[in-house]
Amino acid sequence: MADISELLRDLRAGRINRPEFLRISAALGATSLIPIGLHPTLAAAAANPNMTPASPPKKAKYLIGFSQSELNNAWRFAEQTSMDSEAKVRASKYDFKSTNANGDTNKQVSDVADLIAAKCDLIVITPREVDPLKAATDRALAAGVPVIEIDRTSRGTGGVDFVTAIVSNFVQEGEKVGQWMVANTKGPINYVEFRGSTGAAPAIERHDGFHNVVDSEKRFVLMDSQDGDFTLAGGKKLMTNWITRFGPKIDMIYAHNDAMAEGAFQAIKEAGFTKKLFVGSIDGEKKAIEQVAAGNFSVCVQCDPHYGKRTFDAIDQYFAGAKLEPKITVADKTFTIANAAGLVNEGFGDA
Ligand code: AHR
Repeated sequence: MADISELLRDLRAGRINRPEFLRISAALGATSLIPIGLHPTLAAAAANPNMTPASPPKKAKYLIGFSQSELNNAWRFAEQTSMDSEAKVRASKYDFKSTNANGDTNKQVSDVADLIAAKCDLIVITPREVDPLKAATDRALAAGVPVIEIDRTSRGTGGVDFVTAIVSNFVQEGEKVGQWMVANTKGPINYVEFRGSTGAAPAIERHDGFHNVVDSEKRFVLMDSQDGDFTLAGGKKLMTNWITRFGPKIDMIYAHNDAMAEGAFQAIKEAGFTKKLFVGSIDGEKKAIEQVAAGNFSVCVQCDPHYGKRTFDAIDQYFAGAKLEPKITVADKTFTIANAAGLVNEGFGDA
């Protein structure tokens, strides 16, 4: 069986990476790696890979890094504003350094590297894509910097690769739209699907959730499904094409977020397309809840972007030495004609 010195040789020779080193050493029961020259936080993480590090250092002020994936729709602005304002509220305890990857996954990976180099005590990430951002959290773990993922997740596991993930249940969001459509429509339904950015957790899981419900109902026929990048412009462009291709054969729109549904609605108006469609979307923008109240959208499932307070509460607990749950799920509402008019103020963005 390998011992710690062999593992260190493998690490230095590049045969294993730091996360592998930490995990194998933990499995070997290595409780004190400090005598062989490992940084105390890495030693602590090695002794307890369920927490990174196991014993957070006590400081008068911590530097928190925030890696935002993009600011290309009202949801992401609401999330960023929520993080910025909560950081201000807690400024006596935390300094806050925020980066914006502008929708470029590679930039987000290097943004996280910059936040590690800036000596952040903890980094919060909204991973743009599931797989590529695993490398970023691995790098933080290897450097002994704890990560909290919010709103989206990377390929890793909460409590192992990062401290925790604070997220909505994207599969359930897609299922809720599907359930509404199954219960409230009759006969054949031809539909188009506006997918979120390819490779992003909400795009993958909202697709899966919706299809979990609708695919067993043979009357639902998918005409096309394309990536609209979670933007209004993306939704508008897709709908303009689909009106040309399919015209009034379309009965229903399923959009992975409100921005794309709103873009589709603008395209419908501009094309003078008068057929009434069933529209289901996700997020809970004020504008979308108003569209539900007006009868233009059928159902809107909330995905609450107000991450500031819940994220900093988790950071407080982490530095207080509490063990966080590997996943913290945000509860979301569903807006339909029955409740939307009274709940517009629960939305975000401009009305
Ligand atoms: O990760 C959350 C999703 O990403 C929101 O639904 C969407 O609007 C955003 O871009």
